[in-house]
Amino acid sequence: MTAPRRGLFVTGTDTGVGKTLVSAALLAALGDAAVYYKPVQTGDDDDTATVARLSGGATLPPGLSLPMPAAPYRAALAAGTTVELSALVSGAHGAGDRLLVAEGAGGVLVPLTARETTCDLIAALGLPTLVVARTRLGTLNHTMLTVEALLRRGLSVAGVVLNGPPDTTPPSLVDTLHAALPAEVRVVAEVPELPGDDPLTPARLHALAHAHLTPWIRRWRPA
Ligand SMILES: Nc1ncnc2c1ncn2[C@@H]1O[C@H](COP(=O)(O)OP(=O)(O)O)[C@@H](O)[C@H]1O
Ligand SMILES: [Mg+2]
Repeated sequence: MTAPRRGLFVTGTDTGVGKTLVSAALLAALGDAAVYYKPVQTGDDDDTATVARLSGGATLPPGLSLPMPAAPYRAALAAGTTVELSALVSGAHGAGDRLLVAEGAGGVLVPLTARETTCDLIAALGLPTLVVARTRLGTLNHTMLTVEALLRRGLSVAGVVLNGPPDTTPPSLVDTLHAALPAEVRVVAEVPELPGDDPLTPARLHALAHAHLTPWIRRWRPA
C-alpha cells in the first residue's frame, strides 16, 4: 500500500446511489482545498464534467475512459485494453497538496482487472472511504456488505452518507444502522432528495452541501 494521501474515496453501495452528487457537494463544501478525480469513467456519463458544473470546483482529467457502460474490467476487455492501477494512481498526482476527492465506478468489489477490484485501487490511492448509500429498502444489507468488505481489507471508512428521502419511521434507518455497524463507522450526513424535474443546479447543490455536508466536514480531519 502507498503512503496515505489526504482526501476521500467516495464509494457506494451500488451504481446510481449518488456518489457523483456527494462528490460535487464535497467539492462545494471544501472549495479550493480540494480537487475531484474519477480514476475510471465508463459509458457515456461524464462525472468529471458533472462535478465541475455543479460544484465549480477543480477537477483532474479521468484516469481512464472506456465507452462501454459496464464495470471497468468488462469495459476494458470490450475495448481491447487493460486497466493498470499504477496509471490510475499516477492520474491523481496532479492533486498536489490539495485534498483528493476520488469517485469510484460502482461499488467496492467492482472488478478492475481479473484479479483486482476497486478495493485494490482504494488501497493504492491510500485514501479513507466515504460510503454513499440509498435510504430505500435493501440499504441495510448493501451498506453492511460494503462496510464489511472495506474493513476486512484494512481500508478505513470515514463514514456513511445516506442519500434520499429520510426514513425516520421508528426505529429509524440511522438508528438501525448505528446498532448494526461497527462502532467506528457512523452515518455522517443525510442528503435529502432534491425535488423538481431539473433538481441539480449549482445553487441547489451548494445549498445542499452547506446544509448537509459542511457540519461533518468541519469535524472531519483528513489523515
Ligand atoms: N439527493 C438527490 N436528489 C435528487 N437527485 C439525485 C440525488 N442524488 C442523486 N440524484 C440523481 O440520481 C442520479 C444518480 O446519481 P449519481 O450521483 O450520478 O450516482 P452515482 O455517481 O452513484 O452513479 C443522477 O441523475 C442524480 O442527479
Ligand atoms: Mg458517478
